[in-house]
Amino acid sequence: MKVLVIGGGAREHALCRSLSLDPDVTALHCAPGNAGIAEVAELHQVDALDGGAVAGLAVSLGADLVVVGPEAPLVAGVSDAVRERGIPVFGPSAEAARLEGSKAFAKDVMACANVPTARAYVCTTPAEIDAALDSFGAPYVVKDDGLAAGKGVVVTADLATAREHALACGRVVIEEFLDGPEVSLFAVTDGETVVPLQPAQDFKRALDGDEGPNTGGMGAYSPLPWAEPSLVDEVLRTVLQPTVDELRRRGTPFSGLLYAGLAITSRGVRVIEFNARFGDPETQVVLARLKTPLAGLLLAAATGRLAELPPLRWSDEAAVTVVVASHNYPGTPRTGDVIDGLADVAAAGPAYVLHAGTAFNEAGEVVSAGGRVLSVTATGSSLSEARERAYEGVSRVRLAGSHHRTDIAAKAATL
Ligand code: AMP
Ligand code: GLY
Repeated sequence: MKVLVIGGGAREHALCRSLSLDPDVTALHCAPGNAGIAEVAELHQVDALDGGAVAGLAVSLGADLVVVGPEAPLVAGVSDAVRERGIPVFGPSAEAARLEGSKAFAKDVMACANVPTARAYVCTTPAEIDAALDSFGAPYVVKDDGLAAGKGVVVTADLATAREHALACGRVVIEEFLDGPEVSLFAVTDGETVVPLQPAQDFKRALDGDEGPNTGGMGAYSPLPWAEPSLVDEVLRTVLQPTVDELRRRGTPFSGLLYAGLAITSRGVRVIEFNARFGDPETQVVLARLKTPLAGLLLAAATGRLAELPPLRWSDEAAVTVVVASHNYPGTPRTGDVIDGLADVAAAGPAYVLHAGTAFNEAGEVVSAGGRVLSVTATGSSLSEARERAYEGVSRVRLAGSHHRTDIAAKAATL
């Protein structure tokens, strides 16, 4: 099977790594990719948001499957363009990707499907904003309706900050604050059958102890020793299947990866958000534990044959990933710094580096090229072993000005 992956972050590196280990994959291509993905896939330059260009590339490569990684191309309709050329694609249509692209749309789908989520108001005027903030009280949760690369959500106890963000958004969702630990649960679906993966936890804040600004995610681990064993079945029954059924009922079936961001509150599970693609950095740990070959799973979803697939097989091992970010991330990151020590991580094992924002400079050195630069992933017989291995790997990476959290999976590893 010839596979083309669209995107160039650590999620796509994790996808490419797993695909490269699948014996059914005979050729692996990625566009645009990054310096790490170049080691496992052939890279191509393409505007990932241009459906015609991506479809043209897929045709010219004779791809049997296209996997669209990030949300922006999905929302832009890249999957539709590829599907129109008759090539199976893992990733929802633009219509179905609105589940991530519009928070107001997601709220409407959840209301129709009876999916538990925070109560919310969709506001467009200052008067509506003030009424909504007043009705919920602090802490305030204010979400830009559209895609904002993880920066559209403000959670604050300060009314002035909440109001300022809401006014800056245009169309905004203001919602009830959800208390409790967060879980990311991914499901692969063909629009009808839903196959949940293993849950993971992400660390969204920039600094240890969940301090500092929100980020795209600073680390993750799986499994979750503190979660109820029934969690996955419950979320499948109350969240994932009803959402997929509702989108099919509307004539816009969702096929691809449905990501439920959940809060485990004292009153039960609530959806914080949906995403229409694999999460980053949770994908790094979920795929590290998946033993079922990935290409066959994604192709089954892309071709509507998930019901025929045997149950997924999982490793008993735990996995931890730690993100190394550039100087000043999540503010405007400094880029162009040389990254040393990557070969040391590879030589020392068992941890491995997944590249996010990396590129080659003119001298052929690997340099930072984004906010989240790379993530170091490791598995182990326990979370604490996986954690030690991942941090041992991080200690070998040398990048001027970089920072990472030191407490990824620390609490869970003691359970
Ligand atoms: P989102 O982009 O919707 O995932 O939001 C980013 C982060 O904001 C989430 O991971 C949560 O930590 C926080 N958040 C979002 N919605 C809520 C809510 N209703 N209550 C509490 N925290 C929230
Ligand atoms: N880890 C959060 C996200 O991928 O949106």
